[in-house]
Amino acid sequence: MSKNGWYRLGTAALLVSLLAFTCGCGIFSSVAVGEADAYEEENANLVVVGFSQVGSESVWRTTNTVSVQEALTKENGYFLIFSNARQKQENQIKALRSFISQRVDYIVFSPVTESGWDTVLEEAREAGIPVILLDRMVNVEDASLYTTWIGSDVEEEGRKAGRWLEQYLKITNRQKEEINIVVLQGTLGSTPQRGRSSGFMEIANKYINWHILDQRSGEFTTAKGKEVMEQILERYEDIDVVVSQNDDMTFGAIEAIEESGRSVGRGGDILILSFDAVRDALRLVEEGKIAVDVECNPEQGEYLAEVIGMLERGEKVEKAYVVEEKVFTKENVSGYMNSRTY
Ligand code: AHR
Repeated sequence: MSKNGWYRLGTAALLVSLLAFTCGCGIFSSVAVGEADAYEEENANLVVVGFSQVGSESVWRTTNTVSVQEALTKENGYFLIFSNARQKQENQIKALRSFISQRVDYIVFSPVTESGWDTVLEEAREAGIPVILLDRMVNVEDASLYTTWIGSDVEEEGRKAGRWLEQYLKITNRQKEEINIVVLQGTLGSTPQRGRSSGFMEIANKYINWHILDQRSGEFTTAKGKEVMEQILERYEDIDVVVSQNDDMTFGAIEAIEESGRSVGRGGDILILSFDAVRDALRLVEEGKIAVDVECNPEQGEYLAEVIGMLERGEKVEKAYVVEEKVFTKENVSGYMNSRTY
């Protein structure tokens, strides 16, 4: 279904100027216009999608970007305009406004944090552009400001980590012990930080002997994860469990723990509970350094293409699509190592 001739016309105009600009020719020189005409013809029927990605802070994120880029190709009928927000909301708002002025067919974005989106989403609605949220959620007064959301049940991910710890302490007869826990949080105010924290706390709150010593943000990066873990290790002598809200922070945290002379793993000083389950982390699960890794599935590009396809055909879409995810431990991880591509 071709939604609006204006959008396509707007995009064609943009392509003309982009082409002229990038080839270094005058905008109205005959060569540029000729090439642009061909370009315009070739692209006229493509569905134009503006995608504002959070950044490239983690292996998960890079995989998510590639997954979208591989799904929304020209061969599949899409013209993808990609923008990397480098973890800054102001960059995302700018990108969204630029997509609106380019009159794209769809805006897709993964919001860095949940709040502060009402105004720009109103602008998208006024322009008649459907907004699809990918991975992360927004907290808006009016849910009709976005068409649909595709992502993970991050609260359930947090519960899965909590339930694993619950079971592990039971099996190892440590239910009555005092358990000191620190949490390395992701970007504060982001959907995975909020969801994983509340899901884990739902389980932790059942036990008076589970003590949350500290919670600090490592911003989902290895460097920050290491830095924050070093500070925590200096401050607390007795830590039993580190809940690290993504694998990249976990890599940094493990380095910091080992450099401090402490060991990780089931028989060691500190148990590590991690999220994402990227290949390098699954190796650490296999080695026993990460006790449990709760999967967060970044391969959302195909789901996205399917949803856009439904909208193009005028079909009704659900308000939310949740991707499937597993839990990896030493017991089951080897069966998945060969198929993990990221
Ligand atoms: O929103 C998904 C989270 O963002 C992933 O867990 C993390 O690695 C990423 O940066």
